[in-house]
Amino acid sequence: MKKINKGQKLWKKAKKLIPGGNMLFSKRSELILPEKWLSYYSKTKGAYVWDLDNKKYLDMMFYVGTSTLGYNHPKINKHINSIVNKGVMSSLNCFEEVKLSEKLVEIHPWAKMVRLCRSGGEANSIAVRIARAASGKDKIAICGYHGWHDWYLSANIKKNGLDSHIIPGLPVRGVPKALHDTVIPFEYNNFDQLKKIVCNHKIGTIKMEVARSMQPKDNFLQKVRELATKNNIVLIFDECTSGFRQTYGGMHKLYKVEPDIAMFGKALGNGYAITAVIGKKEIMNYAQDSFISSTFWTERIGPAAALKTLEVMKEIQSWKILPKVGKYISSSWKDIFDSVGLNCDIFGTPAMPCFAFKGKNSQKYKTIFTDLMLKKKILASNVVFASVSHDNEKVLRNYLNNFYDTVNIISKIDKKQINIKKYLNSPTCHSEFKRLN
Ligand SMILES: Cc1ncc(COP(=O)(O)O)c(C=O)c1O
Repeated sequence: MKKINKGQKLWKKAKKLIPGGNMLFSKRSELILPEKWLSYYSKTKGAYVWDLDNKKYLDMMFYVGTSTLGYNHPKINKHINSIVNKGVMSSLNCFEEVKLSEKLVEIHPWAKMVRLCRSGGEANSIAVRIARAASGKDKIAICGYHGWHDWYLSANIKKNGLDSHIIPGLPVRGVPKALHDTVIPFEYNNFDQLKKIVCNHKIGTIKMEVARSMQPKDNFLQKVRELATKNNIVLIFDECTSGFRQTYGGMHKLYKVEPDIAMFGKALGNGYAITAVIGKKEIMNYAQDSFISSTFWTERIGPAAALKTLEVMKEIQSWKILPKVGKYISSSWKDIFDSVGLNCDIFGTPAMPCFAFKGKNSQKYKTIFTDLMLKKKILASNVVFASVSHDNEKVLRNYLNNFYDTVNIISKIDKKQINIKKYLNSPTCHSEFKRLN
């Protein structure tokens, strides 16, 4: 009989109880390794996770980029434990929200005001509300992924406008049809396309990720800034994922381009829930002309964790370590792919390298890759959200030696020296949105 791990058993149950099985699309088993993925963890430490069977694995995925300082960080946890013991909710506000706001504007002197919340999607909705209030215009030009809210998904109402912005096939039932044509997607590095969109629509906001799978070319970000300024458009950089990985703050600091609003999430709390919207005073003040408010935006753990995370980041200069680790991994991938004679694409930002198998079997190869790496007790996919805990010779040697052995097998499959059926013994991982139950 086929052996099934505790995680898969629970995942099957979860799909009956929870539509889609879980709360975050990217962590669905079917996207990674259908019918075999561990799905759940029992504990974490540094670069390691333990599954429900209490087996230890090296995590070389770090989905989805929250814990850049490593899992279960002792200094941050010690601080949070002391906060928990003092109380994390009351009739009054926590003072940490003011301290964190002050810190974030100190790191980004162009910004003067801050709103805090708990998730990236929320931060995006806050920023969009403020930008629409400030510009007096509804229409938004977007590039990248910005969460699950109506304003964003409306780009898929009559066409699949979001298909090239990370997750293809996002369904939009329940999003009001009246929002059609309020959000117009543009391609990264395609300035002419954006200029046309601005000419042909009453755009009040441009909202984009600073960089994700590609680096900016031909002064793209500077040109976007000039276009926004010339047309009285609010420029928003969504740094929920890019922030605090390559600089102490937004990645925009690297390119010396200042937006009007920026958002930070993920890395900011090293796994504790906290997200920030920062911006210029004259724009952020429009938050007063709309109602933006939520009970759990006042809990204390989020801002307290962010303050401690920022302290540790500064102490060890994590933004220098992450791209160093990421570049080492991506250059090792290249050497390995060259040496086994497998033609793959390598892309992403230095702190978040990605690779892609090519050809009609690419998803099958991805499935085999994750399966073989899992057998070596390594969680691995085609993207690494680099963490400080990966900056360790033993960790990287273990990962790269097993990476070599695995892609060597895939290369032999690709050259038809091995039959794919020998290694493909689970359904192929999904590459786009699919209903699960
Ligand atoms: C750039 C960007 N914005 C927004 C989000 C949404 O954040 P959350 O999943 O916390 O709602 C993400 C998440 O991946 C993201 O990468």
